[in-house]
Order: sequence, then structure tokens, then C-alpha cells
Amino acid sequence: MFVAVLLLLVTLSVQGGNGEEKAEAQRPGHVSVVIVGATGDLAKKYLWQGFFEQYVNQVSGGNTFSFYGGGLSPASTATPVFFEIVQAVSCSKETSPNRCAVLKEQFLRLAEYRQLKTLEDYQELAKNIEKELQQEGIPEAGRLFYLSVPAFAYADIADKINNSCRPASGAWLRVVLEKPFGHDFRSAQLLASQLGSSLKDEEMFRIDHYLGKQVVAKILPFRVENKKYLDPIWNKHHIERVEIVLKETLDVKGRIPFYDQYGVIRDVMQNHLTEVMTLLTMKLPVNMSSTEEVLQNKLQIFSNLLPIGKNQAVTGQYKAYKTSVQQEMNKTNDHVSLTPTFAAVLAHIDEAQYEGVPIILISGKMLDERVGYARILFKNTVFCLQNHNSVHCKPKQIVFHFGHGQLKYPAILVSKNLFKPVLKEGQWKEVTEHTDVDVLGLPISDYYVQTPSENREAYSELISQIFAGRKNSFISAENLLASWGLWTPLLTSLAGSFPRIYPGGTDNGDMLDLRVKGKDISYSSEVVIISADQMSGTSAKDFQVMQGKFRSAAMVSAWSEELVERLAADIQASAEAAVREGGVFHLALSGGSSPLALFHRLALHHFSFPWRDTHVWMVDERCVPPTELESNFHSLHDHLLQHVRIPYFNIHPMPVQLNQRLCVEEDAGALLYEKEVRKLVNGSSFHFVLLGVGYDGHTASLFPDSKVSELGDRLVALTESPVKPHQRMSLTFSAINPARTVALLVMGKGKHELITQLSRMKDNPDKWPVTGVKPDDGKLVWYIDYDALLG
Ligand code: BG6
Repeated sequence: MFVAVLLLLVTLSVQGGNGEEKAEAQRPGHVSVVIVGATGDLAKKYLWQGFFEQYVNQVSGGNTFSFYGGGLSPASTATPVFFEIVQAVSCSKETSPNRCAVLKEQFLRLAEYRQLKTLEDYQELAKNIEKELQQEGIPEAGRLFYLSVPAFAYADIADKINNSCRPASGAWLRVVLEKPFGHDFRSAQLLASQLGSSLKDEEMFRIDHYLGKQVVAKILPFRVENKKYLDPIWNKHHIERVEIVLKETLDVKGRIPFYDQYGVIRDVMQNHLTEVMTLLTMKLPVNMSSTEEVLQNKLQIFSNLLPIGKNQAVTGQYKAYKTSVQQEMNKTNDHVSLTPTFAAVLAHIDEAQYEGVPIILISGKMLDERVGYARILFKNTVFCLQNHNSVHCKPKQIVFHFGHGQLKYPAILVSKNLFKPVLKEGQWKEVTEHTDVDVLGLPISDYYVQTPSENREAYSELISQIFAGRKNSFISAENLLASWGLWTPLLTSLAGSFPRIYPGGTDNGDMLDLRVKGKDISYSSEVVIISADQMSGTSAKDFQVMQGKFRSAAMVSAWSEELVERLAADIQASAEAAVREGGVFHLALSGGSSPLALFHRLALHHFSFPWRDTHVWMVDERCVPPTELESNFHSLHDHLLQHVRIPYFNIHPMPVQLNQRLCVEEDAGALLYEKEVRKLVNGSSFHFVLLGVGYDGHTASLFPDSKVSELGDRLVALTESPVKPHQRMSLTFSAINPARTVALLVMGKGKHELITQLSRMKDNPDKWPVTGVKPDDGKLVWYIDYDALLG
């Protein structure tokens, strides 16, 4: 089957200069392509066509090829099916029928089906490749494995490839993987580490087919080409909102066993729509052809995105979904699935450029039309007094129209009241003749419209980039984890919530219309259709906040989200009371991860909090510079302080760094802090102290066996932690116990054991420092979430 169609060596479209792409991408010679899952849906619909196009592009001047279709079925049964699929590839309009027939024939002769099940099968494949290389006496350029199989099989196949199919040094190995890459942060991390033990990062190409869509791929170049028009308006002063939308009319029949575990957020938001969001908002790379810079700038967005909580999302499920689940998953009639088939999510980027700009991601099945687009709607500051139809008063917008919809073709549309976009000759053209359609509220004639000169399938585009070894349209491991890091907390907080049931298609009417208010999103209409049977097994009281006693003190308990809401509300109430009474509120906050959700809550929801009159103190600090991630002040700053309007002089970080060194007794940092407390806090009695408790029973940075009772009436002390960084600065009980209110926040299943022990234990502050928290005249309240309380 190996026909050495010896071709002129082609320099694949790899960018030169600045060492941005690996030289190995350019080594010409023989390329072996192996599609594992060769007769599956994806391969049938897109992959073979994509590889054929790639072959055709290179046939008159490039490498030689062999194509292997791999699968679990034996060759005897799969070969006829395989050839039927491969035969169905088609040539472009420009290719004459005769030439097309020749090309297809060559392609078919280069293709072969092989069973790829066991390690021996892979070893045989490798032998075969090597034998053919020897027989033909040509150098090897590389081996490309496309894994079009369920993700659970990746690690095993990657291992087999690593063990038996690596080419000799000098030739490249590229392994292409399709989503889903995990279903949350942890599973993605696990998959990444499993794959990492067989493949190097540069060998993995994680595909997101949206990045191959022509309009999506054009977002960055468009931003660069039109920089002079966009720079002044691509910011919070001009952008009203950004919408990134993927509407589909189809249901998910036939895919339910997969879909029901994923839902719309994992299926398309975590990947496709997030990718579009990063392309729209990332800092423009100085060098567009530098993969490293492009990926790095994309990654940066994730660290500036505000966390997405329950109030930043609404979900829905089409009505017939329930029955399909029952049928396809063999469930009884009372089975209820909470998997969303529709979601709208509100994101915000916490950067001066985009501060406050709502970015709305929307996707759903069974909607009124199939269309995908990203729309940047600008504020219109012109008020027309008489001619309301004047173009100046109409919406100002740029629409990246990925495809389908009324327009039916991919295009970039810029409303004529904005600017006439630059058109680089070549791959894009301007459309001037239109059929009469409206696009997002404007007639097509009100736009400048650009479209690709030739329509290309996303997969074909990405396949050509894999051949070229270009990685900037693929998902890096860091990008993947950062994206899961963004979405996982939302997925966790939505687990257990009921999606709004919608009928599907045009019948949805205005049921899925949305309202964005401040940082929250909700359905604009209040009607929620939940049938009685959907409510079975859950009662409203399951979500209530419970009050009781713990270690003879007050206790508030709830699911974590409600608990944090309650604690934030209690802190605000305490702040308002203190300000009413004395004009100032002194709040001391702990470090660690438990308070982060509280900080977010305060930052995003408590706009009337009297920050101007609040002094923020620290309960404890690690002896590291404040620029380090481990620093408590660093995290307090990132998660709370930078988002609220608090005067700088009301912020009191602990002075762990003095004289260019950290926590040295002679520098007297603890004493300095103590003096500051005594100077500003009336009677050294904080209004509110927030504490946590560690697995070993420590609180603040007061650890077991550190003789906390010997610290006397010192308010602040240097202490030693058993874990790194060992040196700490901490408030002592002499500073904590005079407080008016002390809150002890305990969250997560991991703390259940500790809570059980604490419930039985007598006071013994030297061994269990938390038992030394005993406000003199104030009150102690334990805030314990259900996970920690009930396990
Ligand atoms: C896939 C999802 O990744 O993208 C599908 O798994 C979805 O559920 C599809 O239908 C949408 O892609 P496109 O290219 O049709 O917009």
C-alpha cells in the first residue's frame, strides 16, 4: 500500500524568526498518519476529509504519506466499512473531475485499516512503518496519531504509543486528543498527569474545533488589523456588554449516556465559549506568530476573571430531556436528571480595561435557531432627537458570526456607525450584495461585512496546523487547567439546583430571556415550571440555614454557599452597628482558603458595606514577602481589598518584613503591630474577628504545644508552625478574646472528623488552641457547613 509519491520538499507553513516554532516541524520526509477510532462519527464526518485535503495540498510539492485507520474491530470486518468512509472524501470545486479521481485513488492506495487493540498490535504497526521506510529508503518526518476515541482510553493508548510507536530521533511524534479532557479540575489534572507520563507536552495537540472555525481564528488578526479603530473603544468606557452565544436546535437524543454526565457547561462552555472569550479579551501579542506569547496572554485572562458563583449563572433543561434520559439510561419514570441543556453565565474580568463589562456566555439545545456568534455591543452616546432611524442612534456593534443563523455563512460584521474595517487581501473578502436579512437587530445593509473567500471546515484547518506543528490554536495544559479552575466551583455550586424546564424551539418564547443586574444574572421572567414529580425527594428545608449550639457557643450551619452568605450578612450587620455607634468598624481577618468564598461574597455582593469606615486587620501572617502567593495579605488583597473601595490607610498588613528580612525578633515587628492596634482600636477590642481552625486544632497562627498560654498580655507574637512556611506572626488570645464578636468558620468534609472531636473535647488551649477562643464579654459564633458538620 505504500506508494512513495515522491514530492518536492515543501516548507510547511511554519513561521520563521524569533525561534517561535520548533524546527522539527519542518523536517521533510515520510509522514505516517494513524487515526485511532477510524470508523467513528467524527472520523467519518470530518477527519478523513481533513486529512485528504491536507494530502491534496501537499501532493504537488511535499512529503510522502501513509494513512492508517485503527480500531478495536478486526480488519476482516472493519476494512469494508473503513474504505466506504475513505472513499467518500471529496475534492474542492476548483479540482477537475479527472484530477480528483486520480487524487482519490492515490489516497485510497495509501490508506489501510489495522486492528489496534493490544500492545502487540501497536508493535506490529510500528514494525510496518519501519519496514516501509527502509524499503523506500526515505527519511521519516514524523508520526501523527489522532485519538478519536472516548477519553477514558487516552492514557492506555498513549502508553502503548510511547512503548512501541515512537519514531527514531529526529522525526516528530504528534498525538491529537479530542475533548472531553476531564469533567472537572481534578479529573483534568489526573488525565494530564497520566498522559504526561507517556507523552511530552509538545507532542500533545488538544483540539477545540472552535479554534479552527474561520471566524474564531480571525478574531485575533482582526483585532490586530483594526487596532487603530479598536484601541480607543475596546474598554469599559465604550463596551456595553459582550455576548458569546451558541444556540442549537437539535436535542441530545442518542448521546444521553455521555451528555447526562456533562451537560451544557462542560460540553461547550468550559471549552468552545471560554476560548472565544479569551480571544476577545486577551492582551494582543506583540508577535502574533509566537505560540508562546499567544498562549501566555490567553492564560493571563484566567487569573483576572472574577470567580463565577451561583448568582452568575442560570440553567435550563428542555422538557423532553427527562423522557430521553429514562429511555436511554433505562431509568424508571420517577428518575429526575438535573443536567442542564441550557445555561447563561455572567463573567467579569477584573482589569482596569474591562472592569464592570458584563460578558455573557449562552448556549443551549432545542432553541429556536442554530447560530453561533460573539457580539460586542458598544454604548451609543448619541441621542437622536428627531430621526430615530438614523444610523447614529442604532446599536453600535461588532458581530463575529461563526456560522448558520439567518445569515447562513461565517462573517465578521461591523455596524456602519462604528468604522470600516481593514480588509487584508487574500483569504477574506468584503460582501456587498446582500439578501435582505437582519442580524442582531440591524439590517445587513447597516453593516460592513467580511467573509472568508473560501469556506473551510474547522477540522481541516486544524489538521493543517498539526502538520505544520503550530500550536497556538490548540489548548495548552495550563490553559485547560485554568479553564477548569474557573468552571469547577460553579459546577459544584450548581449541583443539586433545578434547571428551568423549557418546552423547546420557538415555544420557548421569552422563558429564557435574561436580566443582568450588577454582578448577577437571572431569568427576566419569574415563571418557573417545576412539576411536582421533579420536586420529589427534595424539600425546601434541605437548603435552610440551621441554628444551634456547638461547644456551648452559638452555631450557624448550612450548605457552604448559604453559610458564607449568612456570615457575610452578619459581618455587614456588625459593621453597620459599629459605624452607627462609633463611626468606625475594626475587622480582623484570617488567612487560609476557607475565607476566600467569604471574601468573594463581600466583594461581589456587599456594595453597601461601610468600607470607608472599616479598618481591616490581620489575624495572622506567614513570614514571606507580600508578593508571594503564600502571603495571607497577598490573598486578602487579591480576593477582597482590591475589589472594594476602602481607604488605603485603613488597611493594616502585618509587618513581617522589616530591614529587608523576615520575622526577626530584634526587628520587633510584632510589637509594632501591637502598638498600632493599641493606638487605633478602642480598648484593643476588635468589633469582629474571623478565625478558622486547622486539622491539628490550631487557630490564627497559634499552634498546639506552642505554649500559647505563656504569651501573657502581648497582643501579637511570632510563632512557629509545624508546616512550611514555619515562621508566623499572629494575634494572641489577649487580642482575640476581648473582641465583641469572634466567628469561627469551618467548612468542608475534610473537617468533619475534627468537628466530631471538638464536640467532645474539654478546653485545653495548649493542645487544642482553638479551645482557647473564649471571648471575655463578646460572643463566639461557630459557622460550620453541613459537610463539616455531617460528613
Ligand atoms: C461539540 C459539542 O463540541 O460542539 C456538541 O459536544 C455541540 O454538543 C457542538 O453540538 C457544536 O459545534 P458546532 O461546530 O456545530 O457549533
